[in-house]
Amino acid sequence: MCGIIGFIGEDNASDILIKGLKALEYRGYDSSGVALGDDGKPKIIKSAGRISVLEEKLASASLPVFHRGIAHTRWATHGGVSDLNSHPHSSDSLSLVHNGIIENYYELESMLRSEGYTFSSETDTEAALMLIDYEYRRLHDPEKAIFKAISGIRGSFAFAIIFNDVKEKIYAVRRQSPLIAAHTNKGSFIASDVTALLPYTKDIYRPEDDVLIILSKDKTEFKNKNGDAVYPISEHVDWNEEEAQKGGFPHFMLKEISEIPDSVRKTVSSYLADGIPYFDAASLKEDNVLNIGRIHVSACGTAMHAGLIGKRLIEELAHIPVNIETASEFRCRSQILDKRDLMIVLSQSGETADTLSSLAYAKERGVNTLAIVNVFGSSIARSADDVIYTKAGPEIAVASTKAYTVQCAVLALIALHLARIKKRMTADEVRTHTILLSSSLPSAIEKVISESDGIKDAANDICNAEHLFFIGRGSDSDVCAEGSLKLKEISYIHSEAYPAGELKHGTISLISDGIPVIACACNEDTCDKMISSIREVRSRGARVTVLTTNKLAKSHAFPCDRIITVDDEGGPYTFLTAASAMQLLAYHASAKKGLDVDKPRNLAKSVTVE
Ligand code: G6P
Repeated sequence: MCGIIGFIGEDNASDILIKGLKALEYRGYDSSGVALGDDGKPKIIKSAGRISVLEEKLASASLPVFHRGIAHTRWATHGGVSDLNSHPHSSDSLSLVHNGIIENYYELESMLRSEGYTFSSETDTEAALMLIDYEYRRLHDPEKAIFKAISGIRGSFAFAIIFNDVKEKIYAVRRQSPLIAAHTNKGSFIASDVTALLPYTKDIYRPEDDVLIILSKDKTEFKNKNGDAVYPISEHVDWNEEEAQKGGFPHFMLKEISEIPDSVRKTVSSYLADGIPYFDAASLKEDNVLNIGRIHVSACGTAMHAGLIGKRLIEELAHIPVNIETASEFRCRSQILDKRDLMIVLSQSGETADTLSSLAYAKERGVNTLAIVNVFGSSIARSADDVIYTKAGPEIAVASTKAYTVQCAVLALIALHLARIKKRMTADEVRTHTILLSSSLPSAIEKVISESDGIKDAANDICNAEHLFFIGRGSDSDVCAEGSLKLKEISYIHSEAYPAGELKHGTISLISDGIPVIACACNEDTCDKMISSIREVRSRGARVTVLTTNKLAKSHAFPCDRIITVDDEGGPYTFLTAASAMQLLAYHASAKKGLDVDKPRNLAKSVTVE
């Protein structure tokens, strides 16, 4: 969702901005633009569509080399996808790019209209632009004008601003929307996330809400609303540029699936001491664990599906009741929260606005919060009382894969940790599980990835389907929810995930001749019942692909049209091996259809609006 990059320094700003926009592409966008200029009103070039269209426009504009610029990828919220609505927007005195939503834009616009302002786009952004312009005309001071303007803005924003008559500076400020800053010997940078800055530095600043960032060639300053200097702590990011590149793979998604085994090994081993889960998080210390009444889990999309797995494991292993609710709904009803409860939020990006708001809801009610996040120092990581980082490295493809698997792995470790403290499992029993998670499971996933021809064939079979069903029982059913989401996200095939036993209570009416059904049956306890469910859909004409383990394929006669088998080395965590098979299925279906696998239509990687 909207990306911002800004640079002032020695080098050609245009090159840095375009490279930065490309690094931010994965966040999701539908148009892009740049404002370039060292003095006076900057040149603005913008366009709906891919960055390549912007590049063509830039090339034909034959601009001289500039050393200052701001740039933006827009993911439309207010106003359709058009050149006019693309950022940067400009007034007579400034140019600006914005990520976030100005909630009171209508009010602001009315006030500004009465002051003689007119608006040319359909965006909420223009209200903020003109408000800063208005304050600048009154106060004649860019810093004061920005602070005054943002005091009147409700909503979320990250702004990067160039004033026509302020040479050699870029101003930026954020509230609830991500924005980082960095200074190197090349100059000063701002960006929506670290992937855009990795070619230049790994040392970044994450200013707090409402802190003004002033970029100049030789320094980056931060000020609070009183005009006093503030000094955000510099963070060192342990990601590298190669991790954020395709490295010979045709798509980021395939590369990221191939990274699952190592991500799981790295994540799990980071939280083990002598084979037993160990966490610094205060909420997971023994006394606090014994005091936990209920756990709440909240997240969005794929992270929410990891939460389903967490609920199952925590309830099964530790016998602590878990309430799970999609983050966008969490605060839509009155939640029964107790101070003895623990709220766990899950997020790859750490910036998802819905998840942030459910976290805030729990915090406001005095509930301890624990975030499981992939991006170091992200908003969710900083807002929660405790944070556990997943070690998946940068995830660029919009469809989340490795982040899901490591979130599930961390939740499994938490479940084991809670179970040991509550004396429901001995240390040795826990060790048996952590060996599965840290070693056997990643090896089993490696085999799925290296022997994926069967999955590719199955993908060829389904890629022209209009509708498709995933069915499973128990943890297989949770994994089906994710398999179905993956397929919808990137192959645009309508699919539904159903608990296999529930299908017959209504949705089976949709099963007709030739409808593909993916039946996940990796669990021995529910295998016979799965076979009954498969018979039910087959007798109504469904073409069934069974996803099961090598062992169960030998011991059970699955009535099906195709069978995909995975290794069951992961023991009770084999559902995660099946999850990787489903991720590959979605990947190959999308690739076969020739779709933009990594950047599916309408989706954003980091959804920073509610
Ligand atoms: C967006 C993405 C999904 C992702 C969800 C949660 O909707 O398109 O792929 O699962 O956000 O993202 P998070 O970064 O919080 O895990």
